Amino acid sequence: MPGRVLVTGGAGFIGSHTIYHLLKAGYSCTVVDNLCNSSLKSLDRVRSIMEDEGVTEVDLDLMEVDMCDTKALETVFEKYGVGGFTCCIHFAGLKAVGESMKVPLLYYQNNLGSTLNLLELMDKYDCRRIVFSSSATVYGAATTMPITEDTPTGAGITNAYGRTKYMIEGILGDFHKSKVDTEKPWSVVILRYFNPVGAHPSGKIGENPNGPPNNLMPYVSQVAVGRREFLTVFGNDYDTPDGTGVRDYIHVMDLAEGHLSAIEHMATKATDQYKVFNLGTGNGYSVLDMVKAMEKASGKEIAYKIGERRPGDIATCYADAKAAKEDMGWEAKLGLEDMCRDLWAWQSSNPNGFE
Ligand code: NAD
Ligand code: WQD
Repeated sequence: MPGRVLVTGGAGFIGSHTIYHLLKAGYSCTVVDNLCNSSLKSLDRVRSIMEDEGVTEVDLDLMEVDMCDTKALETVFEKYGVGGFTCCIHFAGLKAVGESMKVPLLYYQNNLGSTLNLLELMDKYDCRRIVFSSSATVYGAATTMPITEDTPTGAGITNAYGRTKYMIEGILGDFHKSKVDTEKPWSVVILRYFNPVGAHPSGKIGENPNGPPNNLMPYVSQVAVGRREFLTVFGNDYDTPDGTGVRDYIHVMDLAEGHLSAIEHMATKATDQYKVFNLGTGNGYSVLDMVKAMEKASGKEIAYKIGERRPGDIATCYADAKAAKEDMGWEAKLGLEDMCRDLWAWQSSNPNGFE
């Protein structure tokens, strides 16, 4: 076995897809999740996918713990002891942009508090490699495309959620620096995701939003499956080819694989790395491109109405993903058709998510 990975927030959308890749590659996984935005069923489904693929022996331990509760989080580390985890992939966090402006303190408390607890305990139990789920949102209102890792961050972030990501990047940077040239240096990889969509091709796991989806593709797929009447397109007067917002959609299977590349990168490179990588495809698609692609994949007409711009949205956002390829050997392989086909496999066989 290549080792045991601590996966925080591993029952969620991106976490569950990453667990699939980790188990497939032979890693043992310990998931810490309080299930505030996920279901235990996601991990049962991952086990079932593994069985379908002929892998019956997997080492996957779920510990239902709120990471803001330091004592409860320490039980996870106590269970495996000093040196028990080779690294940590830190997905856990609250992520709804709109909600973060209604209850900002909850977002700061949850996202920052859980991270501070995690770092203290990792250091105490000698787990000194972390991959952090950041977001293209840290680039704020960047206007020069494509966005590279050197594009300035912080300015123009319009919501508390985005600021938690920016602040956690800063915390990780300061903490990393404090450990350079000590006997116990840390390796940190920050992954800035663009727009993750799609699902495992089996359709057994996927994104399972609570209530009306905030993000485009979960909404579009719920219209296709008949759960919602129509999509509201948030503005068609942007300076883009068809006037609707352009984003870099990335298949969640590709994105998940990026985490394996990151932990392998940390294991093989110097022990005191601090690296930042964009995880995107480098391609931009408009809202209407996505609607058309989903109509094709599902065979359903997707009704939409043009509405007002959504406050805080930008016209265009897509990645320069060269650094991840050059440094970690990772690049997205799947395209728009794959994303929509797999999203439809998930949505059509689970019209109400895991419920
Ligand atoms: P998700 O909500 O499906 O997964 C996050 C998981 O964290 C959930 O299972 C939730 O129950 C858990 N969690 C939250 N607070 C916790 C706490 N205090 N203790 C223990 N568990 C807790 O979200 P996702 O889409 O899988 O996103 C994973 C990470 O990637 C998040 O940090 C998110 O901000 C980031 N991200 C997501 C996107 C996206 O569009 N999905 C884009 C960029 C970055
Ligand atoms: C995509 C496009 C909308 C919904 C958000 C977060 C970001 C990251 C990814 C976590 C935009 C349009 C959307 C709808 C629409 N998450 N749209 N009708 O805004 O690029 O990024 O998710 O880190 O932080 O901000 O993604 O999917 O919400 O929107 O027209 O009902 O679809 O205006 O152009 P976004 P999105």
